[in-house]
Amino acid sequence: MVAALSPDALEALLVFYRDAGIDCAVGDIAVDRFAESDVQPVRRSADQVSAASGVVIRGQEGVGSPQRPAAITAVGAPPAPEAALSAAREAASSAQDLDALLRLVESFDGCALKATASRTVFEDGTRGAPIMFVGEAPGREEDLEGKPFVGRSGQLLDRMMGAIGLDRSGAYIANVIPWRPPGNRTPTPQEIAICLPFITRQIELAQPKLLVCLGSPAMQTLLGIKDGIMRARGRVVTYRVGAREIPALATLHPAYLLRSPIAKRQAWRDFLTIRSILDDHGTGGTKR
Ligand code: URA
Repeated sequence: MVAALSPDALEALLVFYRDAGIDCAVGDIAVDRFAESDVQPVRRSADQVSAASGVVIRGQEGVGSPQRPAAITAVGAPPAPEAALSAAREAASSAQDLDALLRLVESFDGCALKATASRTVFEDGTRGAPIMFVGEAPGREEDLEGKPFVGRSGQLLDRMMGAIGLDRSGAYIANVIPWRPPGNRTPTPQEIAICLPFITRQIELAQPKLLVCLGSPAMQTLLGIKDGIMRARGRVVTYRVGAREIPALATLHPAYLLRSPIAKRQAWRDFLTIRSILDDHGTGGTKR
């Protein structure tokens, strides 16, 4: 039994949690994760398991094979990162279209962020649109609504698209990470690595004519550019996915522009570059 806290102590504790980025409860009872390593492995007969890894992908047809031994995982323990990564690769490459990929992402249990997120945030806009925007990870509003870029930064993105004659009917939008990190913390390199096969396959299946990374994390992850965003933004590079080559560029993240409106002039230049690439491809999505 925990001793009752005074209202002041309780408030101080909540402020401490909030400042530490803890803004949601995952359960009513605290779990000792260290003690879990002593738990005997159990069989999860109802679930199937990725051939290469042992990561559980719930209810996916064709992922397991009848000859394979049943899944063995410790109760509640997250899978080892290498196992999660190889399961993500295997699942992503098996998706033949975006609906299949969505189902695989929704049933993937290899990324711990899923446990604290309310929803999987997979896509918005229009599949098959000539331009695809990719951000970092959902925020609070996106997590509640299940769609990328619907909060304040999404509203700014809409206005920026509008300025070059685009709207969501002519654009496809996703994130590198489909689950909101608790408290909007930066995703870890491991979480990014585990989610990378999914976003890569999503780009491959969406087949945009132009890929736009919103902000430095998406740029570094997808385009492998290590320069700072201020140097690298607006630079058109080639993104290779499967057998395809797609022109790609990075621009400033709308959340950064909300904090630093002075930088909108650089973003505007990038959006003019975007407009001219789309015009060169004869693809518009224009409202003009
Ligand atoms: N920031 C992102 O990177 N993605 C979203 O969906 C929302 C905010």
